[in-house]
Amino acid sequence: MAVNPLFFRKTLIAGTGLFLCIFLIVHLSANCILLLPEAVARGMYNSYSTTLRESPLIKIVAYLLYLSIILHVVYALLITIRNRKAKPKKYVINNSKENSSWTSQNMGLIGTMILLFIVVHLANFWARIKLGIGERPEIDIAGNVDVYEVTYSLFQNIYYVIFYTALMIPLGLHLNHGLKSSFKTLGFYHKKGLKIVAKISLIYAAIMAIGFGIIPFIVYLK
Ligand code: HEM
Repeated sequence: MAVNPLFFRKTLIAGTGLFLCIFLIVHLSANCILLLPEAVARGMYNSYSTTLRESPLIKIVAYLLYLSIILHVVYALLITIRNRKAKPKKYVINNSKENSSWTSQNMGLIGTMILLFIVVHLANFWARIKLGIGERPEIDIAGNVDVYEVTYSLFQNIYYVIFYTALMIPLGLHLNHGLKSSFKTLGFYHKKGLKIVAKISLIYAAIMAIGFGIIPFIVYLK
């Protein structure tokens, strides 16, 4: 039996999206280390970062993460292009309030802003720490790459602080809409259950946006 291409694309976006949501929980928890007093935070943050880079199991998860980001973006783009080309009558009819929200109408724009954030963010950290591009990071007394210092020096620049914080608004909107939509796409249609999912999505998105948005400011002010 042939699989409907639109169904396949949407399922892939939902599945990779959920995986990325889990990554963000882990990533935010790790970045909360930055808020601890420096004496504890530097060592913890740097050794956590070394574990991420050197553990073979985490390396596999990291490759899955990159693949998920690429698939999520490419298939979202394909669907956006398809929807633009389609005449209004060809749209899947769904009159629910949520599907006609500003966020759902502008997922393309919001997604592009997040993509811009990810490109800048990976250039700031990942390219420098993992690929060794640009200024070589220092090594701390335990022999780990001083990722803590890289982060603190980046967030001494108010423009980066504003950029990171501002871009958490589209991220929050995207996560709120994306998380609840992914449940529907994956076939979860229980009416009461969907109301709970909508609340969880809102809380999740708010924690992610506020959490990631506030850290650069706290680091700047520390
Ligand atoms: C306060 C905000 C954030 C800080 C301080 C931060 C910090 C970092 C650092 C230090 C790394 C490099 C880790 C390493 O290789 O040792 C990293 C990687 C990464 N970050 Fe963030 N991050 C933040 C927000 C975000 C957000 C909001 C996203 C996604 C929307 C994100 C996505 C990623 C990804 C995909 C990687 C590459 C992961 C890997 O290769 O292990 N980050 N981040």
